[in-house]
Amino acid sequence: MKLQRRRFDCLVLGAGGAGLRAALQLAQDDARVAVVSKVFPTRSHTVAAQGGVNAALGNVLPDSWHWHMYDTVKGGDYLGDQDAIEYLCRAARRLVIELEHYGVPFSRLDDGRIYQRRFGGQSQNFGGEQAARTCAAADRTGHAILHALYQQNIRAKTHFFDEYFAIDLLRDAEGHTLGALVLEIETGELLVIEAKATLIATGGAGRMYRTSTNALINTGDGLGMTLRAGMPLQDMEFIQFHPTGLAGLGVLITEGARGEGGYLVNSEGERFMDRYAPHARDLASRDVVSRAIHEEVHAGRGCGPRKDYVELKLEHLGDALIRKRLPGIRETALRFAHIDPAVTPIPVYPTAHYIMGGIPTNRFGQVVAPARHGPEEPQPGLYAVGECACVSVHGANRLGGNSLLDIIVFGRAAGNHILAGLKEQRYHRSLPEYVIDQAVARVRRWDRKGSESVEAVGRDLRATMERYCGVFRTQDVLDEGIRRIVEIRERIDQAGLTDRSRVFNTARIEALELENLIDVALATVSSAAARTESRGAHSRVDYPERDDVHWLKHSLYFREGRTVDYKPVRTKPLTVAAFPPKPRVY
Ligand code: FUM
Repeated sequence: MKLQRRRFDCLVLGAGGAGLRAALQLAQDDARVAVVSKVFPTRSHTVAAQGGVNAALGNVLPDSWHWHMYDTVKGGDYLGDQDAIEYLCRAARRLVIELEHYGVPFSRLDDGRIYQRRFGGQSQNFGGEQAARTCAAADRTGHAILHALYQQNIRAKTHFFDEYFAIDLLRDAEGHTLGALVLEIETGELLVIEAKATLIATGGAGRMYRTSTNALINTGDGLGMTLRAGMPLQDMEFIQFHPTGLAGLGVLITEGARGEGGYLVNSEGERFMDRYAPHARDLASRDVVSRAIHEEVHAGRGCGPRKDYVELKLEHLGDALIRKRLPGIRETALRFAHIDPAVTPIPVYPTAHYIMGGIPTNRFGQVVAPARHGPEEPQPGLYAVGECACVSVHGANRLGGNSLLDIIVFGRAAGNHILAGLKEQRYHRSLPEYVIDQAVARVRRWDRKGSESVEAVGRDLRATMERYCGVFRTQDVLDEGIRRIVEIRERIDQAGLTDRSRVFNTARIEALELENLIDVALATVSSAAARTESRGAHSRVDYPERDDVHWLKHSLYFREGRTVDYKPVRTKPLTVAAFPPKPRVY
């Protein structure tokens, strides 16, 4: 069957902040850009980012990009690549001001400058007093940024394919990426989009966990297609658990709530963070706070009838400040927990939030995949940016407020790099028919009926990840997790769509998403089982210490054979002296 084809200079998969920032850079320079999004663009998960975007503006307290760099290196437990981190922190100021000019309605200080709040892991003077570096639009910063970027893209004439699902990359035998096969969700029609450059910006995979701050759409689609194309995923063992998910539900309660002066207490009313991080207290980095909450609950000092959460106290901030700075948190607490945070503390517990790992890239957004045991090479025509990418600026633990920064800095950088490449490449390479056929086969497999239900397999995957790859890990538990997920992968091959569910393409999409999630989950648990040290968010009870001698290296997981390989961390910054690993205390 002949499929419809469209041609663009650049194809962007995903319409969150990373995809939109890259698309904008391209469209403003008159490149023909297509953005494919499985939801209407302003429903992309960037919309859920609350607390803010980091930039050393120094509007509230003294600050410098170099202090920001130090905090980011330390926050990532020294696994981040310091050239990329320097680039990120240096670019922050200019790109946040640019966002302001794009129309992002940042909260204001009385003198009109952008309001900045305190966030976890921030310091002045390389580890000194708390900094205030997070530029906020109340507690709806991602919402504000996403809408501004979407509007700018409409103005720049970016072409949107709304509610289209990306099935697979289209790559020729020489490894050139030539576009992607996509499916229009409403009709089920397949469409081939050819492009001289393809950028993956599909976000994270938080839905592999039962409780997560992530939207239902965060199913690791770009990660799955990268693995299927034979490229590895980097540092997948590092999963961030946000300390303050609404207990039992996982809905995000921004770190900004603690930045505004909120604090955590256990069932004895104790501010327990004083014991775990005497200096930074509730604003220690996220891995530290999440572990502390776990330990308090484990020690029997949890709150509530089942003693299974701790409480976030905001009452002392007063109703007026809560309404002004944290209106979304107030609304979430009222709607989901039926409490007014000006009166009653919010029950919270750590919840899956962010993947530090992803598709390996350099700081121009180019996907750099090594041939196994061979040198790393940029993959022609292929880019990745945002949560699905690992550049790596977040190392083993991301600092709050650095993800919105990551998407605008590297979205722009990738856009610029693609533009330079387009100047050299006038024509599209020819796309062999067999490449399309292979991608189509992935969709057609779901025309089958089966003995397993997609929904049941998905439920089991999420429960397995929660139980076998959580905040604290041991070899036995991780090995059992791998065994179970391999079994789950076999079950998905037996699954099919019922006649009833087949009526709606959404059932087919859910099946395709689950295949992606299973591959990402296997990458995560396999990488975690292989790393026998504790670093950042990867906390091994059986290997409690960080081991820089053996493990200061990035992991690379390959789908074929489920093997894990390693590559060095780039410890040399671009212009300043390196920050060598030190004991990490807050
Ligand atoms: O807590 C938050 O507002 C989340 C911010 C982030 O993950 O960067």
